[in-house]
Amino acid sequence: MFLLGNLPDFVRTKRISICIQNWTNQFGHIYGYFEGHTPILVVSNPDILHEIFIKYFSKFHSRRQFPLEDRRTTKGVHLFSATGDQWRRQRAIINPTFSTLKMKRMFPIIDDCITTFLIKLEECMKTSSEGFDIYKLYKRLTMDLIWRCCFGIKTDMQNDPNNPYLKRSQEVFARENCAYLATLLGILIPELQPIWLTSHCWINYIRARLRRLLPMGEKLIEDDPNEWLKDNVGYFIKKAQIHQNNNNNNNNNDYNTNITKSADLIHIMLDATEKSSIDNKQHDHTERILSLNELKQNIYLFMVAGYETTSTALAYVTHILATHLDEQKKLQNYIDSFLNVDSILDYDIINKMEYLDWFIRETLRMYPITPIIINRECSEQIDLPGLGRILPGTKITLDMYSLHYNNDLWGPVDTKKFYPERFATKRHPMAWVAFGVGPRNCVGMRFALAEIKIVIIRLLQNYTVLPASMDDNNLDLVELVTISPKQVSIRLEQRTDK
Ligand code: HEM
Repeated sequence: MFLLGNLPDFVRTKRISICIQNWTNQFGHIYGYFEGHTPILVVSNPDILHEIFIKYFSKFHSRRQFPLEDRRTTKGVHLFSATGDQWRRQRAIINPTFSTLKMKRMFPIIDDCITTFLIKLEECMKTSSEGFDIYKLYKRLTMDLIWRCCFGIKTDMQNDPNNPYLKRSQEVFARENCAYLATLLGILIPELQPIWLTSHCWINYIRARLRRLLPMGEKLIEDDPNEWLKDNVGYFIKKAQIHQNNNNNNNNNDYNTNITKSADLIHIMLDATEKSSIDNKQHDHTERILSLNELKQNIYLFMVAGYETTSTALAYVTHILATHLDEQKKLQNYIDSFLNVDSILDYDIINKMEYLDWFIRETLRMYPITPIIINRECSEQIDLPGLGRILPGTKITLDMYSLHYNNDLWGPVDTKKFYPERFATKRHPMAWVAFGVGPRNCVGMRFALAEIKIVIIRLLQNYTVLPASMDDNNLDLVELVTISPKQVSIRLEQRTDK
């Protein structure tokens, strides 16, 4: 449609990824659509995707720019938005955060947060015997986990649901927050992106001033959660610097005592920042250096990227448990077989639990969380077999639903059936892309999978999960940047068979 392209189809279906899946069914594995007048190439042929995401990654290293995404280096760009050498430099610094050794060190902290989570579950069971929304509790838990494991700050979001950082992070993913005119203009006329961005920044600035100046301003005018979080990340840096200056001679109660200086993300990034004397200078990609603005942007990124996705994954796994009681029993028995009364849960044991891994992967196959963020932009002309000549600037996205529900890639058991054992067979490397794929896949995947596994193990060791109602077990899904359920209502039954 003139000016709008295929946007009305997205508005009509309310689900971008389902709309794309329907088009794939109609037009095949390679086709295009228009966002405004921007052409987007959609590919779901796994061999061609392999060429783009892995074989020729050097020509497809960047993601397309979201409307209102600020990529001006003067402001600092975070890992998710960085391009080319800027991305390579940042990724090399951040990659070691989730190494096996560091994950082992984080293990007791994760376990400690989950102990608090189990206490909250106990309270919910007592107060809402007819069922409660476990997704809300997961959000608070995963926020605690990010703060404690990545920023080293001891928080208690699970007992403080009104914490401003938690509230603002939740708002980042809320529907209303994306209904800005500027976003729409950014999609329709991307050529004027600098103008939309500048006006967006000014509107936020004026709103922030009015909030401060007007009587009742704080109540009447909402601030932009993204800007609020970015403005307030200095808190983390200050805490980390105090900790570093105290040289591990820890007298600061907010800090995790059992984590060494180099164990958490913020210290890794702070070390790289301290090496950078001049802020905003362009760095060679081989230098392990971050500017102060990049540090701030990355703290913001990890705060929002790490918590919403993992809590949503946990919500989906719990929904599967509640609606597939036979599968739940099987997983429970499997976990019991690993952990007798004397054994202590540790990182090595969870990595041996293959069936638990399949269970989670199968859940994310059926309920992908972030399909629209897996896209690449071509940086250099290339001729690809099966696709033809791709020009610089071409935006390519993959169709995650079509890959995850493709019976040729995942058979013989029907892909509509929940069947974790399908992961016992080696599949095409592009068949499962829940965490993206190639050198630019999700940097937090190991951390997310560990969190999910430990929560599920401890949940099933203590309880059997039941649906809150036997009548309607379908999830009401909302799609924006992530696809998430509105809620996951369950009941819990204390286990007596142990
Ligand atoms: C179940 C949980 C999660 C899911 C499903 C998920 C999914 C994804 C996906 C699909 C991408 C894009 C990959 C691509 O383009 O190929 C991504 C990127 C990213 N994720 Fe995650 N993620 C999860 C958890 C986390 C956590 C816990 C963190 C941080 C601790 C995190 C941090 C990031 C970052 C920083 C990127 C950008 C990486 C880059 O561009 O180099 N994610 N994630």
